[in-house]
Amino acid sequence: MRLPEFTLERFFARWEFAAELLLCASDVEGLSVRDLLDLADEDSRHRWDDLRLGYTESAGDPALRAEIARLYEHAQADDVLVFAGAEEAVFALNNVLLGSGDHAVVVRPAYQSLAEVARAAGAEVARVELRPADGWRLDTAEVGAALRPNTRLILVNEPHNPTGSLSDRATFDRLVGLAAESGARLVVDEVYRFLEFDPADRLPAGADALETAVSIGVMSKSFGLAGLRIGWIATRDRGLLTRLAAFKDYTTICNSAPSEVLALIALRARDRVLARNRGIVLGNLPLLDEFFSRWAGVFEWVRPRGGSIGFPRLVADVPIDRFAEGLVRETGVLLLPGTVFADTSNRFRIGFGRTNMSAALERLETYAERTLR
Ligand SMILES: Cc1ncc(COP(=O)(O)O)c(C=O)c1O
Repeated sequence: MRLPEFTLERFFARWEFAAELLLCASDVEGLSVRDLLDLADEDSRHRWDDLRLGYTESAGDPALRAEIARLYEHAQADDVLVFAGAEEAVFALNNVLLGSGDHAVVVRPAYQSLAEVARAAGAEVARVELRPADGWRLDTAEVGAALRPNTRLILVNEPHNPTGSLSDRATFDRLVGLAAESGARLVVDEVYRFLEFDPADRLPAGADALETAVSIGVMSKSFGLAGLRIGWIATRDRGLLTRLAAFKDYTTICNSAPSEVLALIALRARDRVLARNRGIVLGNLPLLDEFFSRWAGVFEWVRPRGGSIGFPRLVADVPIDRFAEGLVRETGVLLLPGTVFADTSNRFRIGFGRTNMSAALERLETYAERTLR
């Protein structure tokens, strides 16, 4: 299997821990272990204190799987398989579902692995474009037009990285209808689920919408616990889960024992964890709205509807790679150039899940005053 370089991850490998302030992180600010343990109920506190650091159950700790299943309407613990982050889930899923002669439909732009692993597994990948003029909304007519008799998989990401877009319910229902009629498996990357700005906009989970559909979830983004490296696949298709479990024997075998317990604690306290994280995101958003209205004509902003990231455009005649490089070198503030998503329209990803966002935004503004006005 040959995989091309993961451009975004290589960019972060260079800058994430060298830059002083991240203004493009995709996750919400991580909780400390101390703060997380303060949220533990009695049972999970015992699990933590008495934890033995041996191998764990390869499908995931049963209590954790049960807690993850509670995030869905129709899932039980046995409908959940735990992975090392969403990334391992994406890798396993594409390898199990796709091979040469198969076809997959994936939105663009997208987190690179969503399309690249499918391609490396041998499938032909058709991209359905999300466009700023449509508010980055998914056009299900384009999904329908991309389908072929050998389409095995339709992969979308709701809320979406990097644009923060979120389909409306009617669009999502049409998508589910297309998957059901065509027999292509619907996979919904839901790593930003629960960060919809208006909870009324939250879509049904893929795994709830259709028996064969797949939800990909993770502790990294909405739950602010990326360092746990705990993600999962939820689906009512038990046959698929059996195949995925067999694949996982060749990747991580089982999950990190401490991470499983910490994830359990966070999920049992999810109302408090999500309230904290939604508070950070919703507190930062108005600052971005004000910034982009002050800079209208220089930056173009399509306001996201969920998640902790957006994908504005630098309208001024300065290449975004050059602008971002100057910004980080001179001010320590990191933006993510859209070129890592193969975007050619001078966009960049901005992240608003960090508590120091206003400080980063101030430095961006000072730098923009100096270089763009
Ligand atoms: C849409 C999407 N899917 C999957 C992943 C992988 O998540 P993780 O790093 O938690 O494995 C990411 C990470 O940025 C993402 O944005």
